[in-house]
Amino acid sequence: DDIEKGTYPHFMLKEIDEQPFVMRKIIQEYQNESDQIKLDEGVRNAMKACDRVYIIAAGTSYHAGLIGKEMLEKVAEVPTEVHIASEFSYNMPLLSEKPLFIFISQSGETADLRAVLVEIKKLGHPSITMTNVPGSTLSREATHTLHLLAGPEIAVASTKAYTAQLAVLTILAVDTAQAKGIELGFDPLKELAIVGNAMEALCDQKDQFEKIAYQFLYTTRNCFFIGRGMDYHVALEGALKLKEISYIQAEGFAGGELKHGTIALIEEGTPVIALSTQEHVNNLIRSNVQEVEARGANVCMITREGLERPGDDVVIQDVHPLLAPLVTVLPLQLMAYYAALHRNCDVDKPRNLAKSVTVE
Ligand code: AGP
Repeated sequence: DDIEKGTYPHFMLKEIDEQPFVMRKIIQEYQNESDQIKLDEGVRNAMKACDRVYIIAAGTSYHAGLIGKEMLEKVAEVPTEVHIASEFSYNMPLLSEKPLFIFISQSGETADLRAVLVEIKKLGHPSITMTNVPGSTLSREATHTLHLLAGPEIAVASTKAYTAQLAVLTILAVDTAQAKGIELGFDPLKELAIVGNAMEALCDQKDQFEKIAYQFLYTTRNCFFIGRGMDYHVALEGALKLKEISYIQAEGFAGGELKHGTIALIEEGTPVIALSTQEHVNNLIRSNVQEVEARGANVCMITREGLERPGDDVVIQDVHPLLAPLVTVLPLQLMAYYAALHRNCDVDKPRNLAKSVTVE
């Protein structure tokens, strides 16, 4: 273990730090000689042929799938549904005429996903497994595989696999758009390189996130994460990260849903981590923040350059708005890490959890 961790105290911190390199690796591997996206022909044809994509995943990979839906619909105009694997198997929704299944799985071994794959194969539907482990069960059994190229992820809490999933989903969406002749208006590989730089800048500011974690999360019993649209999906991931390694009761909410119930839980000093990276909802999420602040919440605001206001705690570099989740998740991963560390939790091997869940 010590050899692989190098100078890092935990695999999780090492894996967080590796994210800029993973971005570069993905760009390199998915790029042809003319700096265009290079993707497996079979995957491209499957994307073109389907009338609807069904993303199947669990946990952090499910959260990546929620953002993948936005990318596939907004960039490639492919109608997409995202399903929790364990729900799908025993409660299958109505399927379209030409469905394509995308299984997102870091390990490629998650039993809940395999149960779905077995069922849809019986129905004769095509599938793509997006995984970090080529040769894994889901990779072998699906029609096609897309590799995440994140390198081994050892910490139970997934970090670099999540951002790799988002990067490969971006590439898939852009490639599909290009195959369908949709005008994009941005260079995806260049944008992913900018993301890598923005990630690096955050990795260099660890002290700041340790301080915020200490100030907000050291003694708290609970914590809320809010956002709208893509930021909401990142909020879900931030909450999962925090609860699984620090055991703090954490929940992610769509900003507008707060007043429909959850705001009742806000009291003096309740930590609320708010995300605002999407211009069209910047004002709305900020009014949600005012609502919780008026009830005593301690708010940490994470925003994107160009949308910041005085008093914001974290401002990420200006990246393409669709790719903001790849960057805003880093402060959340780091805060979860430092919260767990200062609460003396076993960061890499949290209680009751396994790295890959091979039972249904
Ligand atoms: C993430 O931090 C979790 N430990 C967990 O939710 C994980 O993402 C989930 O079990 C899915 O695993 P997979 O990607 O290997 O299929």
